[in-house]
Amino acid sequence: KGLNDYAKKAGLLYFGTAADIPSSGENTDVAYQRILNNTHEFGQVTPANAMKWDATEPQQGDFTFGAAEQFLGFPTSNHQLVRCHNLVWHSQLPSWVTSGTWTNATLQAVLKSHITTLVQHFGTRCYAWDVLNEALNDNGTLRQDVWLNTIGPAYIPLVFQFAEEALKGVKGGRRIKFYYNDYGIENPGPKSAAALELVKGVKDRGIKIDGVGLQSHFIVGGTPSRETQVQNLQSFTAAGFDVALTELDVRFSNVSDLSVGGGLEQQSQDYENSVAACVDVKRCVGVTVWDFDDKYSWIPGTFPGQGFGDIWWANLTMKPAYDGVVAALTER
Ligand code: G3I
Repeated sequence: KGLNDYAKKAGLLYFGTAADIPSSGENTDVAYQRILNNTHEFGQVTPANAMKWDATEPQQGDFTFGAAEQFLGFPTSNHQLVRCHNLVWHSQLPSWVTSGTWTNATLQAVLKSHITTLVQHFGTRCYAWDVLNEALNDNGTLRQDVWLNTIGPAYIPLVFQFAEEALKGVKGGRRIKFYYNDYGIENPGPKSAAALELVKGVKDRGIKIDGVGLQSHFIVGGTPSRETQVQNLQSFTAAGFDVALTELDVRFSNVSDLSVGGGLEQQSQDYENSVAACVDVKRCVGVTVWDFDDKYSWIPGTFPGQGFGDIWWANLTMKPAYDGVVAALTER
């Protein structure tokens, strides 16, 4: 038995992980792939990079799906659900987008073309799409990026509308779940409140939006309590949205001293709290960890000196945190 087996028994739809396939290390690492492709552990996968804008439309109108197809070659052979990630974001945009000279109309056309092409290309191979990623600042205001600066706040409902319109070309497409995905919205506060307003704003216009993805990138000892996370998740489900923990990890702030923050036992407890919070909330559909292993973790590259945030060590043995996840999934 593994995490996905326990998750389903606990009433979730899946337990999943992100993976950076294709990437030189992961592609040839048989021991890594054996865990990734084990559907007892993972019933869902998210491409860490393969579907992002820089990978799929590196030049305007020149769509390249090689990386994404290689990624999908893994899970589809294994019947793992795919959370497709992502259609619109401020980051990992090719320079033709960020340094183009756009008008409101021409940039809308760029969005429409990208969204339509990806939604129709991948179709129902996507269980869900992160349609919009990280559009908010920590204080709840909208992030100043090329989308906001050129189109204004109207770009937000517009991208969901383009995604919905694209479904006309996808047989059975209405079942694909559309998400808004962000970090720092796991606690009640200005950003979480703004995320709720954002998704309500889309829904109130009658545009398809199904859920809110709470990324859940935490630091050992700094994780919101189970009760806090439950209360926060319920603020979204009460408004009619599904929720999912989409990028869970709990990193150490100092890799040379794991006692800072409370050590491996605290990390395990932190994982347990988050997964248990999802189990506690009826419309929390599943939990995805952002890399299951320290070997290929994104964390040290982004936060130098920090890391060990995953539930498997770099040598692909399990950490106490793995048992914390199991505890959360098997407590009832
Ligand atoms: O593809 C290039 C390669 O050509 C080059 O040789 C190499 C050298 O640095 O870089 C490669 O690109 C890297 C890319 O990952 C693919 O491996 C980028 O430098 C690196 O910055 C990028 O990091 C990704 C990060 O998003 C970028 O924002 C991580 O792998 C990915 O896990 C991470 O995922 C994000 C989610 O999408 C959104 N939420 C936060 C999460 C963690 O940051």
